[in-house]
Amino acid sequence: MSDFTFLKGDKNWWRQAVVYQIYPRSFKDFNGDGIGDLRGIISKVPYLSSLGIDAVWMSPFYPSALADGGYDVDDYRDIDPRIGTLAEFDELVDELHKANIRLIVDIVPNHSGSNHVWFQEALKAAPGSPERNRYIFRDGKGENGEIRPSELTSHFGPTAWTRITEPDGSPGQWYMHLFASEQPDWNWDNPEVRADFEKTIKFWCDRGVDGFRVDVAHALIKDLANGHLPERSSYDVEVMKDDGTDDLFDRDEVHEIYASWRRIFNEYDPPRMGVAEAWVHANRRPPYASEKGLGQSFNFDMLGTGWDAKEVKRIAKYNLTAAEKSGSSTTWVQDNHDVIRHVTRFGLPEVTNFFDWYGKNRFRAQVDLGLGTARANAFTAMLLALPGSSYIYQGEELGLPEVLDIPAEDMQDPQFFRNPDLGLSRDGCRVPLPWERTGSSFGFGSNGSHLPQPAWFGGYSVEAEDGVDGSNLEFYRRALHTRRGLLTDESISWKNHLFNSKIVHFERANGWQSITNFGEKPVPLPKGEVVLTSQPLVGGKLGPNTTAWIVSVPAKLTSDDGTLITIGAAAAMFDSSVDAGGAVDGGGFGGDGGASAS
Ligand code: NOJ
Ligand code: CA
Repeated sequence: MSDFTFLKGDKNWWRQAVVYQIYPRSFKDFNGDGIGDLRGIISKVPYLSSLGIDAVWMSPFYPSALADGGYDVDDYRDIDPRIGTLAEFDELVDELHKANIRLIVDIVPNHSGSNHVWFQEALKAAPGSPERNRYIFRDGKGENGEIRPSELTSHFGPTAWTRITEPDGSPGQWYMHLFASEQPDWNWDNPEVRADFEKTIKFWCDRGVDGFRVDVAHALIKDLANGHLPERSSYDVEVMKDDGTDDLFDRDEVHEIYASWRRIFNEYDPPRMGVAEAWVHANRRPPYASEKGLGQSFNFDMLGTGWDAKEVKRIAKYNLTAAEKSGSSTTWVQDNHDVIRHVTRFGLPEVTNFFDWYGKNRFRAQVDLGLGTARANAFTAMLLALPGSSYIYQGEELGLPEVLDIPAEDMQDPQFFRNPDLGLSRDGCRVPLPWERTGSSFGFGSNGSHLPQPAWFGGYSVEAEDGVDGSNLEFYRRALHTRRGLLTDESISWKNHLFNSKIVHFERANGWQSITNFGEKPVPLPKGEVVLTSQPLVGGKLGPNTTAWIVSVPAKLTSDDGTLITIGAAAAMFDSSVDAGGAVDGGGFGGDGGASAS
């Protein structure tokens, strides 16, 4: 495929890229051991290419005990032998690049896996030794150090401290882990740790990766000076200070680390990019996204919202403004390996906090998948039309629902085991992909899959949807290819609908409009050529739970081979019956063009 050539050499390739997340263990198993692998991914590069994506983000593929799905990294500069080899990694980079697809890898700097050679050395060394000082070891309280050093809880529950046995067999010190006990936190005050991560960054840059997704980017620096230890539940944004002085998260000093990584990124041509997974107060995202830092920061705000036009507009405007202020572009995310799949989420009874709902209701879920899928695809089309980059999670393109009934004995997520009362698990979105209608593991591999797939999975397989008009896969392909042709600068104009607050409608600089109907009644469309709808129109109108893209001026589109094509023969007037307000805020960001209608 040569349809990505226009991105070559572009240092801003990521600003409006569509990034497809691969969870390697669940994508494609080439050698039939039930675990996805690099060969499997290589074999599917033509499929990735056919989607019309710009980049792949690969979740961790490093050697790991898999206590947290690979986010417990035992060696940052190698490949898990169950997943492949470095030679295969190089081959994958080549194959992706030949298809003009960039590669972003996941880097996990807050903690290692407990089999990391440095953690093993720390266990063998004495308290106070340089080896222990690479992690966060403390003496326990109480007469014999038997009481944990503080009441800090782990994100996966319950405590963030685990006691070790000293080499002489006596009960020993405790170490801190914000996640599972197999994920000891690094001590970033130690220059050795910093130098080692710089080495890792260079290692993957030299192998040709184009960027890094930075796991828990806001947690690296902690205030542990003078015997201070945080006494609280970790990871709760609500209780986190928003001035850079919190004792656990988002401390100002963390940006020194990313400035040093940026210096490395900029040694390459084009400079490598980074995207921060930083769960911080929204006003604190800009420094992560600055060009002196990682360059981009995830905004996960759309993950927590319901089917609510007003809220969606608020989130979109807020994030576009914030990204503009930091000189970056924002990210749109509906799905990833940590959250319930969005066709299921949108099919749930009306609730706003989907994370909570899932935990408490997993086994008695009443999901309306028809509604969920319609809303999910309308959302997808709307987000793809907004300025910024879009992150898509494997299987999303197939309309794959969450697997809600994985038996407890098959669960893998540490969240499930560490919080047994809550029933929380992220495994339902990590079930290996169905490639074929039937057969062993539906074409995932030849010998089963590491998480059980339900019998209905084949109906969502690539085989079942490929080339089928009206399938979810063909909708995604069409949306991504059409988007590529329409992509323009990052300005946006919001359209008012004074008499209908349930419409989200905006226009890009070249006359590309996106209109989504969050209401119950069909609404008329603006004039112009309809180039995409997430569901068929209803008597020429935009039905409920639907998004349409319209090109309202003789827009210039770039076709896949890079030549310009024109659609919309004459300049079409905007339909005043739809655009009652008609306010356009001059292409700027975050104007209040639509808010008054809400
Ligand atoms: C965020 C990752 O997305 C998640 O999967 C992981 O469990 C935690 N960070 C800890 O690394
Ligand atoms: Ca395999």
